[in-house]
Amino acid sequence: MQSLESFAGSILLSREKIESSVASAFVSYTSIKQKSSHIGLASSGGTIKKVKKRSPERTLYEFLSLRVWHDLLQHYSLLSPLKLCAPLPLGVSHLETEESALYMEFMPGYEVRKLGGQNLRRSFPVYIPEQETPVPLYPACALYLGALDCIKELEGLCHGDYDARHVIFKPFDPVSLAVIDVEGSRKDSFIEIDAESHYMFTDFERITPSHRDLSALRSWYEQGREMLSLKDKQPFFPEISEKVNREYDIEFNMESMSLNGISLRERGST
Ligand SMILES: Nc1ncnc2c1ncn2[C@@H]1O[C@H](COP(=O)(O)OP(=O)(O)O)[C@@H](O)[C@H]1O
Ligand SMILES: [Mg+2]
Repeated sequence: MQSLESFAGSILLSREKIESSVASAFVSYTSIKQKSSHIGLASSGGTIKKVKKRSPERTLYEFLSLRVWHDLLQHYSLLSPLKLCAPLPLGVSHLETEESALYMEFMPGYEVRKLGGQNLRRSFPVYIPEQETPVPLYPACALYLGALDCIKELEGLCHGDYDARHVIFKPFDPVSLAVIDVEGSRKDSFIEIDAESHYMFTDFERITPSHRDLSALRSWYEQGREMLSLKDKQPFFPEISEKVNREYDIEFNMESMSLNGISLRERGST
């Protein structure tokens, strides 16, 4: 097992590396005022830089959790017609300072919380694979949320801050649903994960503007769960977790939320 310092060194994105891979400036992607972190986007490379005041261990934990979510959702996307994803983590920097940076892939689309409003009509047609006719925006998103919840439940994976700000829906080709901000994610009991599913669905119902969509939401959500046909499937998490541990030669444990024995469980997340 390597030390956290040496692990951090192995995923460090030096200025030279950033310059050669990203090759454009990071611009502010979200409003600085409302966020606990500063999110920058280098548009040419599609790279997100998340600068946040937190311990280096937390940044490393989010890096590794992202990797697990990324590989897990990629696995299910290959098995089903629905594309679910999480950003591939690319590296870290400034771990020795108060505000460290985490680099990851940019997830295009809309934060689900901001889906409607001035962005898109509620009748925006979403072409979902294996559906003959396009599905309106909110029902389409409900279908993807159902699929995501189904995976979380089978895998026993809690997000930790699961709400409509942390899922990004891309309603145009290729349609996808992405999960972000997995800093507080962990393995947990079915009760906890089921509670997260309920919370997300309620959050989503709250932002769905039309009564007609609202009444159909649950059945689209259930259809998304069925489209994955996960009955009798075994969780894939153990294999991925082992692979990530082996690849980085560290002890990353999402059951105890620890990194080389250092527990990250008590501290809250945003
Ligand atoms: N990889 C990403 N792709 C697209 N948008 C992102 C990505 N990461 C963060 N964002 C945007 O930045 C916001 C804040 O990021 P988040 O990871 O939730 O930070 P915090 O830990 O401060 O809550 C998100 O709600 C989302 O709008
Ligand atoms: Mg957040």
